[in-house]
Amino acid sequence: MTSDPFQAYKETQRDNWKSFAPLAMTTTPSAAKLVHFAGVRPNQRVLDVGCGTGVVAITARRAGGIVTGFDLTPELLAVAKESAAIAELDDITWKEGDVENLPFRDAEFDVVLSQFAHIFAPRPEVAIQEMLRVLKAGGRIAFHTWPPELFIGRMFALTASYLPPPDPKPAPPHQWGDPNIVLQRLG
Ligand SMILES: C[S@@+](CC[C@H](N)C(=O)[O-])C[C@H]1O[C@@H](n2cnc3c(N)ncnc32)[C@H](O)[C@@H]1O
Repeated sequence: MTSDPFQAYKETQRDNWKSFAPLAMTTTPSAAKLVHFAGVRPNQRVLDVGCGTGVVAITARRAGGIVTGFDLTPELLAVAKESAAIAELDDITWKEGDVENLPFRDAEFDVVLSQFAHIFAPRPEVAIQEMLRVLKAGGRIAFHTWPPELFIGRMFALTASYLPPPDPKPAPPHQWGDPNIVLQRLG
């Protein structure tokens, strides 16, 4: 049996993200951009990692994808299901779990998306390995992140500077906003 050194950290994350739903109004406009950028086409299998309230998953479904929304936080998945029902999209699969341990087969998806989400995994190398594992050869991975030098990135750095250092230490989410780090991590 392997144990996760970040289990307690992820439980806290899950608890903190519960209240994110009202803020999804700030991530809804960029969802359309991400789905467009990834070139989602009808009948492609699409995974939305860290789907939250489902803004990307629902947009990808509207583009014709066969969509799975996946998230750590059950309260947000409940909102996503409710929104999909209002939009009369009853064939999106919603699943709870951790991006560092995706419950999907190798090469199951044509497109893997993440909007401001996988960046919160404490071990980027584990998260990206999982996201690439479930992606078909020749498939597409696309994500939105916050650059460290702009408002949200700076806010994260500021908040972290006032918190006690966590043990073990997770990788800072804003590193995913540095194109050089993204290139290294994607190999
Ligand atoms: C800023 S919200 C973004 C939600 C959504 N993608 C959007 O654009 O509105 C971050 C999301 O990442 C999820 N998340 C954080 N850590 C995660 C993990 N280890 N595995 C899966 N999801 C995670 C949270 O539950 C939350 O829904």
